Amino acid sequence: MRLINSVASCSTCHRRKFLRSALAGSAALFTVPGALAEALTRTPRDAEGPFYPDNLPLDTDNDLLIVNDKITPAVGAVSYLGGVVMDTKGQPLRNAVVEIWQVDNQGIYLHSKANGQDKRDRNFQSYGRFLTGSNGHYHFRTIKPPAYPGRTPHIHVAVSHRNKRILTTQMYIEGEKQNASDFLYKRLGGGDPKLQQLVTIPFTPLKGSKAGELTARLDLVVGLTPQDPGKTERDGQPRRQKRR
Ligand SMILES: [Fe+2]
Repeated sequence: MRLINSVASCSTCHRRKFLRSALAGSAALFTVPGALAEALTRTPRDAEGPFYPDNLPLDTDNDLLIVNDKITPAVGAVSYLGGVVMDTKGQPLRNAVVEIWQVDNQGIYLHSKANGQDKRDRNFQSYGRFLTGSNGHYHFRTIKPPAYPGRTPHIHVAVSHRNKRILTTQMYIEGEKQNASDFLYKRLGGGDPKLQQLVTIPFTPLKGSKAGELTARLDLVVGLTPQDPGKTERDGQPRRQKRR
């Protein structure tokens, strides 16, 4: 896995800038509850969906706007997404692999069986992953996802620990009208609004950004045993994928 802070060359000005802002943001933005008297509610799981990339992109770092050393960034509303992976006592989880995958600005997935591959934004990485350190933080730079036919906007999220998938879910955007009618959103957490709320987050303007960048935070509360015991053969993460 190559993370943003290990990149040495430079289309990389973008990347260095991102790293700085991610680090600068982390101190102010992220606070871990610490040991809590009461257990936190686990982040509700959601369907993996059919479009986890069948071939991983050439670049799998946490900056989805730039593929390798290309100069042209992806099209879309630039969004800094991050949070803390923690257990139900609020203790940050180290060495968790957080993966995200999502559509590009036209609603197209990176997947050989997804519609519109010929029109896909080749500058959008579509998938990224991040290995948490001792503070449990994760960071991505991506785009705010649009809706696509049949679904309200969402980003797929998976967390793995010790090679086991411990959470598969999706994050949704607060205020999206289509959330209420989305077939997966309706059954999320058994339809309990409090559980739905745990994965429904605002995308808000990044302070001081003249380019209209957005910021979003989703903390992930995980149990340390796999949530999907029926899917063990697909649970080992990160999966071994062909690269292209
Ligand atoms: Fe999806």
